Amino acid sequence: MDRRGFIGSCTAGAACASAASWPALAADARPKAYARALLVDEQGDPVRASRLQVATNYVFHYPFEATPVFLLDLGKPAAPQTLSTQNRDAYAWPGGVGALRSIVAFSAICAHQLVYPTRDVSFISFRKTRAQRGVQDQLIHCCAEHSQYDPARGAQVLAGPAPQPLCAVLLAHDARADSLTAYATLGGELFDAFFRKYEMKLSLDVGPRARSAVSGQAVVRELSRFCRNPVQC
Ligand code: FES
Repeated sequence: MDRRGFIGSCTAGAACASAASWPALAADARPKAYARALLVDEQGDPVRASRLQVATNYVFHYPFEATPVFLLDLGKPAAPQTLSTQNRDAYAWPGGVGALRSIVAFSAICAHQLVYPTRDVSFISFRKTRAQRGVQDQLIHCCAEHSQYDPARGAQVLAGPAPQPLCAVLLAHDARADSLTAYATLGGELFDAFFRKYEMKLSLDVGPRARSAVSGQAVVRELSRFCRNPVQC
């Protein structure tokens, strides 16, 4: 099987499990495994996938203590997509998880100039409805230079200067427990550039654990609870 055939054969259920054994693929084209982290609420109880509010911005941090991720229930199935990074490495996003296959997660670090949600302000978020002319609804929108990403299509770029989709965070759904576990990223990671750019700020905001790997569990909060000023442009 050639590379294109392999990419096309990666399906939602398989989550490209065999990708790690395919040496010809670029690193960003394969899922990159990190420590597993069960998604929990602020009380430490496992998040129930079926109880997520549809079209609501949730945030957790993964795979590092300082790297934010959007968790979204789109309310409709998100089908697998073949996407490509800025370096033109194709990868197969496996689609949504959960009973409806509607739950997705993406790094909340904008692929253009690394804008991200902090506790003080967020210029990037999912828009349930359009806020102004030119801003589409049901997309993740970055107010900095108006990059727009479609979370139903693996965070593919639909508008703006972003050169690649948001990096996906892969989730496993335990149907019996109705729980969610983050276990890998897929696509163009920007964590090295993020830590370089915000080294000083992260050391002040998060402290020495900013680059520590998340493991065991990750706390999920609504963006409106995590961030004091979610900007709607
Ligand atoms: S940083 Fe997001 S569009 Fe420029």
